[in-house]
Amino acid sequence: MTQGKFPLDKFDSIETPFYYYDISLLHETLEAIQAEIIDKPYHVHYALKANTNPRILKEISKYGFGADCVSGNEILRAIENGFEPNQIAFAGVGKTDREIEIALDNDIFSFNVESIPELHAINSLAQTKGKKAKIALRINPNVDAHTHSYITTGLTENKFGIEEKHLPDVLKLLPTLTSVELMGIHFHIGSQITDLSSFKNLCLKINELQNYFESNKMWLEHINVGGGLGVDYKEPDTNPIADFPAYFKLFTKHLELRKGQSLHFELGRAVVAQCGSLISRVTYLKEGIKKNFVIIDAGMTDLIRPALYQAFHHIENLTSKGKSSVYDIVGPICETSDTFAKDFELNKTQRGDILAIRSAGAYGEVMASRYNCRDWAKSYFSDTI
Ligand code: LLP
Repeated sequence: MTQGKFPLDKFDSIETPFYYYDISLLHETLEAIQAEIIDKPYHVHYALKANTNPRILKEISKYGFGADCVSGNEILRAIENGFEPNQIAFAGVGKTDREIEIALDNDIFSFNVESIPELHAINSLAQTKGKKAKIALRINPNVDAHTHSYITTGLTENKFGIEEKHLPDVLKLLPTLTSVELMGIHFHIGSQITDLSSFKNLCLKINELQNYFESNKMWLEHINVGGGLGVDYKEPDTNPIADFPAYFKLFTKHLELRKGQSLHFELGRAVVAQCGSLISRVTYLKEGIKKNFVIIDAGMTDLIRPALYQAFHHIENLTSKGKSSVYDIVGPICETSDTFAKDFELNKTQRGDILAIRSAGAYGEVMASRYNCRDWAKSYFSDTI
């Protein structure tokens, strides 16, 4: 029996919970991105933090995309799985000396530098190695992404990036740092952004900053606008692929790219979210006073997004066609926040049914933990299962 795109007959014999990735949807998504950038000076660096499963990375790197990494280990993981070191951007407010050395040893594309102390650290480590580190200044643009506060990054109250008011100091400092070379500027305003006008505001801010750099006679070869494009968690089947044409067109229209400049994007979620589902089995049904609980064998240890950000994930019962009923769908972990959905309509559910928690390909498997001594959920792929 196959429900939609799920090979249920195969699922029967696999220990739950597990991640299931639809590799053809991943390819369709990658092709959709490629179609938008192919004839433009645009480069996409896949944000590894969304999913570092080696199989997924190998598929993405085959398309020639670069990588956006936030740790030394992510840099190594990206290279191991086919990404070119000279297409790796490295962001993060707390890069350690060891991580900076990994990046220098691999001659990465660019350090996205987030503070003046970091600039000094990179300069001195590069000097010791007799290298010149290529850097982009990550500037905090103070643009509201209108998303959950935990994934908003571009406001002055956030820890990310260099404040605009410190730019004169940075520009004064740069000529004295002989082992770094300024290549560009970098921004990232937040994640799961569905109101595209936030990106327009970012473009306008970048245009203003470009004028500032020009007036200081500084040439920027690369503009990096970060990631953040959201996906449709409510209706993953209606919108399995994000609106890439609208997204890229917005930058073409509003960002005043200078001749010879290239534009870089760091998309994570929009690349991998919809191709992944967390598959789980119903352990018990429990009647509460006002609630009916469906207790499943997946928990916040496998997918923490609902517990951490009150995030919504669509859930379906793959094994029932029964008349729908309203349930709270919860995991087995000893935390009240271990709840996947409240007052959610599912087809009539019973012990042993198999549920798919959809749109779990981004920030799912990669944020798992072993809290309560739980096993890691394994991963399976549509073309090899
Ligand atoms: N570039 C930088 C500098 C970032 O910090 C991020 C995400 C990205 C790119 C990729 O953003 P995306 O295209 O995936 O939105 N765990 C949270 C999301 C955290 C995002 C952190 N930064 C969640 O599950 O919603």
